[in-house]
Amino acid sequence: MGEIVRLQKYIAMSGAASRRAAEQMISDGRVAVNGKRITEQGVKVEIGNDEVTLDGAVIKVADKKIYIALNKPEGYVTTVKDQFDRPTVMDLVSREIHTRIFPVGRLDYETEGLILMTNDGDWANMVSHPRFESSKKYFAVISGVLTIPELNRLRRGVVIDGKKTSPAECDIMEIDMGMTLVEITIHEGRNRQVRKMFEAVGHKVKKLRRSRIGIIELGNLPEGRWRYLTSSEVEYFRRK
Ligand code: URA
Repeated sequence: MGEIVRLQKYIAMSGAASRRAAEQMISDGRVAVNGKRITEQGVKVEIGNDEVTLDGAVIKVADKKIYIALNKPEGYVTTVKDQFDRPTVMDLVSREIHTRIFPVGRLDYETEGLILMTNDGDWANMVSHPRFESSKKYFAVISGVLTIPELNRLRRGVVIDGKKTSPAECDIMEIDMGMTLVEITIHEGRNRQVRKMFEAVGHKVKKLRRSRIGIIELGNLPEGRWRYLTSSEVEYFRRK
């Protein structure tokens, strides 16, 4: 589904006329939407779906591609709609973004941090396709004190769901009050992978935050907020 805009904006976006001139064209009865002549202002059209004609000739607007990074709070699902009506990441962007975008990959309901969203299906495939192995960095607070042998097992790979995980970078950042803060970078995206990796070495994940995907850093983006990716961030995944 494409962006929904006012008809005069559509005409301006197509390059056929300025927005003010477009309003005049509409009043003059020169514009039709899906074969129906429109003379009043304020009609909305969907880019890529509705057919707009000016003096009988079709005018087109390229649907703009959108790429964003969102800092997902805990307690949101990364699906477009949830069967249990829980809050979704869509709720966090829909006030400002009127194009239908979708999350790239997933984060658990309880996990917070970086999630990418786009309306570019090809790009989403490149980011999440196992062949490209985008690295993903997480900070995990786990129960108990992680030992060096356990740390080394995580680094080498542990068996989850009957298959060994590929080598991971893993470092202990802090041990406090019987819990360990661990930084872990994985190169796969299996279901609940980080939680299951820690379970495999006997620790429960209490808190999980994703801080990086490839070169894209969460940085100091506030919780629940989003930003547009830069063009070099977008292109990074195409080059891989
Ligand atoms: N690993 C997990 O266990 N959960 C996530 O949300 C992401 C990675």
